[in-house]
Amino acid sequence: MEPLKHFPVMLEECIEGLNLKENGVYFDGTLGGAGHSYEILKRAPKSTLYATDVDEYGIGRAEERLCEFRGRYKIYRDNFKNFPAIAEREGIRLDGVLLDLGMSSFQIDDKTRGFSYLSENEPLDMRMDKRAPFTAQDVVNGYAKRELERILKDYGEEKFAAKIAENIVAQRAVRPLKTCGELVEIIERSIPAKFRYEGGHPAKRTFQAIRIEVNGELDGLGDAVIALTRLLKSGGRIAVLTFHSLEDRAVKSAFKELETDCVCDKSLPVCVCGRKREIKLITKHPVTAGDEELRENSRSKSAKLRIAEKL
Ligand SMILES: C[S@@+](CC[C@H](N)C(=O)[O-])C[C@H]1O[C@@H](n2cnc3c(N)ncnc32)[C@H](O)[C@@H]1O
Repeated sequence: MEPLKHFPVMLEECIEGLNLKENGVYFDGTLGGAGHSYEILKRAPKSTLYATDVDEYGIGRAEERLCEFRGRYKIYRDNFKNFPAIAEREGIRLDGVLLDLGMSSFQIDDKTRGFSYLSENEPLDMRMDKRAPFTAQDVVNGYAKRELERILKDYGEEKFAAKIAENIVAQRAVRPLKTCGELVEIIERSIPAKFRYEGGHPAKRTFQAIRIEVNGELDGLGDAVIALTRLLKSGGRIAVLTFHSLEDRAVKSAFKELETDCVCDKSLPVCVCGRKREIKLITKHPVTAGDEELRENSRSKSAKLRIAEKL
């Protein structure tokens, strides 16, 4: 099989940020094509790696990529949000956590998965986890107009969200939408010609928004970051790469919550709230990709990396 076409985003920054220990225990919550995991196992030669991904195809390819490290890693086909429970059950404590959110290039490139606005007759699917019962067709054919508009605005920052939602609802009253091409056609005619190609393909923002909804990408993200950070040993690091402003906001506020020390009134003689700062921030502001990477990997354009260290 051909190697997976996925270039790990901000690889050096992530690896450096994790401050690898030769025999550390690491968790990659978004294994994908194993680009980051491969480097962790290679550069920390006695380390152990736990990883999750919900995508069966990606896991198969990642296994091939990691085979030289067999015995040093364990992969779970699961949501990273469930890893804290696994870790508790199996008594796992970590030296590092990496999350590289969103989707892999191989998921977008596989037109049959329905993630791509360049697909035509392929079904509107967009599930990263094919076991999930809920697809993009359920969103476009089942959601109320107001809800569709909100998703397109919030997750896609789509200026013409209202018109697109209105046209989706009108079209599905005639016949339910089934293919990517049908949705692209509605989007194109909902955006006035002079704005249609502003900021890339006209369907880019709507497809992103629906994908985020289908996969529940923002649901519980902040709580997961908090729970994963709490699995770290003292001095362990968490690095999170985000590609959307709402993801970055969730990570930023999770870190803020973990960074907050006692909140008692200063006039009290002793602390009664019991809160203690749990992390220190390694990146005060998110790190973005360097010029060379920006030129070579378009996916890195919206990437933001935040890193914290467990106290
Ligand atoms: C950006 S890619 C990761 C790429 C990887 N770091 C690499 O270098 O090859 C994101 C991957 O995370 C998976 N994913 C996204 N959200 C997930 C979640 N909540 N739980 C588990 N896997 C998830 C996707 O299926 C995808 O394969």
